[in-house]
Amino acid sequence: MVNVIGLGYIGLPTALMMASHGVEVIGTDYNKELVATLNAGRTTFKEEGLDELFNNAVKAGIKFTTEYQVTDTYIVSVPTPYDKFSKKVDACYVVSAIRDVMKVCPKGATVVVESTVSPGTIDRFVRPAVEDAGFVIGKDINLVHAPERIIPGNMVFELLHNNRTIGADDRNIGEKVKALYSSFCQGEIVVTDIRTAEMTKVVENTFRAVNIAFANELAKICRHDNMDVYEIIRICNMHPRVNILQPGPGVGGHCISVDPWFLVGDYPSLAKVIDESMKTNDAMPDFVLNRIYEIMKEKGLSDIGRVGLYGLTYKENVDDMRESPTLQLLESQQRHLASGLKVYDPFIKKDVVANQYHNLDEFIDSVDLVVIMVKHNEIKENVEKLLGKVVLDCHNIIALPEVYHI
Ligand SMILES: NC(=O)c1ccc[n+]([C@@H]2O[C@H](COP(=O)([O-])OP(=O)(O)OC[C@H]3O[C@@H](n4cnc5c(N)ncnc54)[C@H](O)[C@@H]3O)[C@@H](O)[C@H]2O)c1
Repeated sequence: MVNVIGLGYIGLPTALMMASHGVEVIGTDYNKELVATLNAGRTTFKEEGLDELFNNAVKAGIKFTTEYQVTDTYIVSVPTPYDKFSKKVDACYVVSAIRDVMKVCPKGATVVVESTVSPGTIDRFVRPAVEDAGFVIGKDINLVHAPERIIPGNMVFELLHNNRTIGADDRNIGEKVKALYSSFCQGEIVVTDIRTAEMTKVVENTFRAVNIAFANELAKICRHDNMDVYEIIRICNMHPRVNILQPGPGVGGHCISVDPWFLVGDYPSLAKVIDESMKTNDAMPDFVLNRIYEIMKEKGLSDIGRVGLYGLTYKENVDDMRESPTLQLLESQQRHLASGLKVYDPFIKKDVVANQYHNLDEFIDSVDLVVIMVKHNEIKENVEKLLGKVVLDCHNIIALPEVYHI
């Protein structure tokens, strides 16, 4: 039986996927409300195919609880934020989960850390937590790191089809864990050592962050001298070895806006390009705010309360708002002691910020300038509703005659 610890955006779909492919699974989360929701037969976030997967897993016998289980295999999928000051990974959730696993696990158990961690985290934090509990690693407890690559919005498909990495001290244990993931994963599964697995996951997200930062920097250069960044990128990408990403209003979520900082924190004198890239991306919400003020001036708009931000989530067509550019922009506006921007997101049903609307038409009616922060399908399908409005399109998706860009 597999005990999955942490039933959030990663742990829940992983647990459901394993259960619906014949693995006996019990999911554990210390959040009682979350466990009660799952036990009441409801999923805790929106994701294509998740409800169906949930129903299959329930039929197959998955259980949800707040208790850690006595079993031979654990998968730990708890948050790994970064320390805002040192930029290093904050391993406190992982350590706390490992300590709790150690209280119940029998000798011979395998503990798989799925959470994203910086290279050396397992050595520095996880091994001592296991040893403090009186276990000998490799004899009593086997350690494995199996980072996750799935993207919100396409999680179910990617769980089935992505290639995976498994890092283990012992090759045979790595192969056993590979067999477990092979119950559902149709991609290639590489078995390597723990340090390599830790590093590859962080490097993958860093690659994305640096490339996004390059596109964002181009947008700023082009804005400075009134060049069309989209046309320039389009032409450059016709070169056979060039593939520039699109600029945007910033990055959010729990991967690209977080993991590269781990390398900056651990290698401050070496990770220079990464450091600048993260700063470039983090500065984008402020850049958008400046564009808003520039456009307001140009159009003779004086009331910030007549400006609306479309989208609160960190990416399109999901309900995950963590670290989103819109939240960063609102925070920045408050720091400047300004407020009043209106906000709307079709995926956010609760009131989470001031001046939030829950109906697209009412939102658009209440503003003169609409800022497209997130490219949800909804707005692409309702472009005509923006006619007559000033639009700042941060994603270059709105085909109307008079649209501003970042
Ligand atoms: N969200 C993503 O897109 C994504 C993608 C790839 C990797 N990751 C990584 O996966 C890991 C988990 O991320 P997430 O997005 O699922 O986080 P999350 O915040 O959605 O879920 C974590 C869950 O763990 C629970 N939890 C925390 N500590 C616990 C403990 N000691 N015992 C029991 N439950 C505990 C929380 O209550 C929460 O429900 C992170 O390391 C993250 O970087 C996330």
